[in-house]
Order: sequence, then C-alpha cells, then structure tokens
Amino acid sequence: MAYETLIVEIEDYIALIRLNRPDALNALNSKLLSELSEALRAADADDSVRCIIITGSEKAFAAGADIKEMSQKSFVEMFGTDFFAADSDCIMRTRKPIIAAVSGYALGGGCELAMACDLIIASDTAKFGQPEINLGVVAGLGGTQRLTRFVGKSKSMDMHLTGRFMDAAEAERCGLVSRVVPAKDLLVEARKAATKIAEKSMLTAMAVKECVNRSYETTMREGILYERRVFHALFATEDQKEGMAAFLEKRQPQFRDK
Ligand code: HXC
Repeated sequence: MAYETLIVEIEDYIALIRLNRPDALNALNSKLLSELSEALRAADADDSVRCIIITGSEKAFAAGADIKEMSQKSFVEMFGTDFFAADSDCIMRTRKPIIAAVSGYALGGGCELAMACDLIIASDTAKFGQPEINLGVVAGLGGTQRLTRFVGKSKSMDMHLTGRFMDAAEAERCGLVSRVVPAKDLLVEARKAATKIAEKSMLTAMAVKECVNRSYETTMREGILYERRVFHALFATEDQKEGMAAFLEKRQPQFRDK
C-alpha cells in the first residue's frame, strides 16, 4: 500500500516503516499517525512479517507532534476527538515486536513514539527530549508515564520541567535505550536485532511482549504469577518441544509458530 507520510518496505521477514515528512522533521500529524496505525495493523496481520522497525531520517526520528496542526485547536476539539488517542493506541495493540531505530531528534511525541515501541536502538547522534513545557503544554502520548518508569522520577522531572535534550550516551546510561551504535550503522544494527527476533517462535516472542508489558500494569506478585502461567502455557506448543529437542540434539531449532 502507498502512503503519503511513510515509506514501508518488507524484506526478509522485517517490515521497515520509515516516517517520511522531511520538511517538518517527521512531525507527527493526524495523517502520519493514522497511516502509521494502518501500517502497523497491516504488518501485524501479514505472515511474511516477523519483526517491525520504525525509523525516521538521519536528522530526525520525529520532532514531536505537529505544532502547526495543533496550535489553533480548542479544548473542545482536543477533548471531543480525544486527540491522537485512537491512533496512538495502535502501537500498544501490535503483537509483533517493534524496534524504534532512532537517529537525530526524538522530541515530544517523537520520544513518546519511540518509548511506546518494544526497544530503542539509538544512533550516537540521537537526542531525546520532552520539551512540551516550552509550548505551554505537557506530554500527551504517554511521556510523563513512560519516561518516569524508564529513567526514574528525578531525571524524568528534569526532562519535562527544563525541556532539555538528552544525548545518546546519557540515554543509554539511564536505560532509555537498549544500545547505541554509530549513525552510519543504525539500520544495519536494527536489522540484525530484528533478524534475531524474526528467527524465534512468533508465539514465544508475543508471549515475551505480553509478560514484559504486564510488568508496567500490575504488582510484582501478579506479574510473576502471570509470567509463570504463560511459561506453563507454552508447554502446549510444538515450538517448546522443538526448541528443547533442538538444544538436546545440538542443532538449530526450526520453529513453526505452532
Ligand atoms: C511542526 C516542525 C516541528 C514540529 C520542526 N518542525 N519540528 N513543524 N511541528 N514539532 C519544522 C520547522 O517548523 C521547520 O519548518 C522545519 O521543521 C525544520 O525545523 P527547524 O526548527 O528549522 O530546524 P532546526 O533549527 O534544526 O531545529 C530542530 C528542532 C526544532 C530543535 C527539532 O525544530 C524544534 O525545537 N522543534 C520542535 C520540538 C518540539 O517542541 N516538540 C514537541 C511538540 S509537542 P519550516 O517550514 O520553518 O522550514 C508534542 C506533544 C505530543 O510533541 C503529544 C500529542 C498528543
């Protein structure tokens, strides 16, 4: 499918979704978010996709929600349409793993979009920030909640209150990103990670996502119980039998998502 604000390529079981509004540093407008929602829904339903990468340009992953589009909106419009709620939920509904490959600016909604993905691989040029306070608003796509859980209260307050940017080294130090790679290698490294994930049983990968995400939604005791039940349930799959047999027979497993 052709999109106006995205370039989507599917190759070797990986769907690469590139945000493509270069004139606005990939600012997230309604069109882009609804197309992203559609592209994720399509990738989730496509058997030839086993991992998804969302990326931007070298200069910007995304510089935030589109300020031009929002600036004149009223409270009634924002609240009445529950602005961005439907399309931003699409990431949480996606069951296949999503990697954010971030180069350059990931600000405001761009930082929030990256954090909503399952893991972030950053180039050494990446800059993260929640500068909404400079516009007289707060984050609106989960930034105050996710950043706080990722990096702790003090640093989250610092980012949201001062609006300062965090470079890639600091982002890695404080656990916001999983790895930092040289800018020129960003997509190669993201594809390598995606290929590793794509080789697993999709059933198990989706189960991992559910368990890790559950840790943000519930108590430790409930989360551990949930994990144990999922662990038990996977013994009903052929892929568990295959994975363990392959180990014992000293060969690579052939998972069939069954
Ligand atoms: C609309 C944007 C934009 C944005 C950049 N542009 N960010 N347009 N919305 N968020 C546009 C600029 O207007 C400009 O267009 C072009 O992209 C290039 O940007 P410059 O500012 O000229 O580039 P540069 O000097 O390199 O500065 C880069 C920058 C700066 C530091 C990233 O653009 C910036 O501060 N952007 C805004 C960041 C921000 O406040 N984000 C939070 C948004 S609120 P023209 O036409 O002039 O060339 C948000 C809320 C989320 O995200 C919650 C939603 C529910």
